[in-house]
Amino acid sequence: MRHRFHAICPYFAMFPESFAERWISELTRPGDVVLDPFSGRGTTATCALLMQRRAIACDVNDVAYCLTRAKTNAPALATLKRRLTILQSGYVATKWREAVEAAPEFFRYAFHDETLSQLLYLRSELKWKSSRCDGMVAALVLGSLHGEMDKSSSYFSNQMPRTISTKPAYSVRFWQERELVAPQRDVFGLLRARAIYRYETPPPTGDAVILHRDMRQLTRLTETLPGPINCAIMSPPYLDVTNFEEDQWLRLWFLGGPTHPTRGRLSRDDRHESSDAYWRFIADMWRSMGQVMGHRANVVVRLGSRITSPEKLQHLLVASSRFSGRDVKLVHQEISELKNRQTDAFRPGTKGCLVEIDCHFQFDIGNMVRHTPTSETLV
Ligand SMILES: C[S@@+](CC[C@H](N)C(=O)[O-])C[C@H]1O[C@@H](n2cnc3c(N)ncnc32)[C@H](O)[C@@H]1O
Repeated sequence: MRHRFHAICPYFAMFPESFAERWISELTRPGDVVLDPFSGRGTTATCALLMQRRAIACDVNDVAYCLTRAKTNAPALATLKRRLTILQSGYVATKWREAVEAAPEFFRYAFHDETLSQLLYLRSELKWKSSRCDGMVAALVLGSLHGEMDKSSSYFSNQMPRTISTKPAYSVRFWQERELVAPQRDVFGLLRARAIYRYETPPPTGDAVILHRDMRQLTRLTETLPGPINCAIMSPPYLDVTNFEEDQWLRLWFLGGPTHPTRGRLSRDDRHESSDAYWRFIADMWRSMGQVMGHRANVVVRLGSRITSPEKLQHLLVASSRFSGRDVKLVHQEISELKNRQTDAFRPGTKGCLVEIDCHFQFDIGNMVRHTPTSETLV
């Protein structure tokens, strides 16, 4: 059975667990340390724990940090249910009426007043950064915050895509033109049901270090990381595809962010409309990887772009690997075509990529001792 934590919340440009599982099983052994420096929804770290490896994950985005930490540091279901009961009993609808009425137009169309009232209360009450339990409640809210109205009743919003949050003016126009009205949802009831459903597969356990920062700062933390890092499985932001801050603005709002989309607040490197800046970023990525990865470590990179051919992507990725300052070789590569992008259904022509490449690199193969050691060399 698929682990129920994987689908807690979708993430744009996420990879499926089969991708992480395949490489973890091919390249590592139980107890090894697996890193994902761009963790997104936390699939690498979750799979690593489920496969008895240790995990390190890092991301600049609050949504990514919240999801990855919740999946890898989950509270017990009984604790989670208790917390939901306490939260529900502390909720007084009348206290939130003024805040609901003062909310920007987008929120009045996006959510039924009663749903918005409960969301505003949870947003102010949850200590998602400091409490594991509140972190899981927040992750469950993020997973239900927006999505399709027709397919299931588990989303709080008016009609929206699940993966990205559409922009306020566009969304309001979309709802007005189609006369779509936000459904009334019992947020607490829905969260309890989601919690029970997600915990039908036992939560992953084991050592996980989840970092909320720019991956280029990993080099400053090598002392505190469980090392050596044996393997990295990752997909950096894609060239000219999405902005993880702007396109997740509603989830970021729930976690305490502004009531409108932003760019460059969390990271200036989230979208790279210029190829030069992008490849400078990828060179920086390799520089950091060169400093943190263990001897003969493996690195698997999934990369996509709308504007660069797979051949050129691969060429530039391999060329930039020399910035690691280490001997690094491309062992294997695959190209896959993407179909059925979810955002197409809502915003035809949105920036998605059509092709992705997977490249498997290994450090220090050139430094291998090639002769069979004799008893003399072993002494
Ligand atoms: C393609 S997504 C990763 C998706 C992930 N593999 C998954 O399955 O959900 C790229 C991620 O890199 C993060 N990111 C962008 N710049 C970063 C940086 N300098 N350091 C760490 N994370 C960064 C973005 O926030 C985004 O979550």
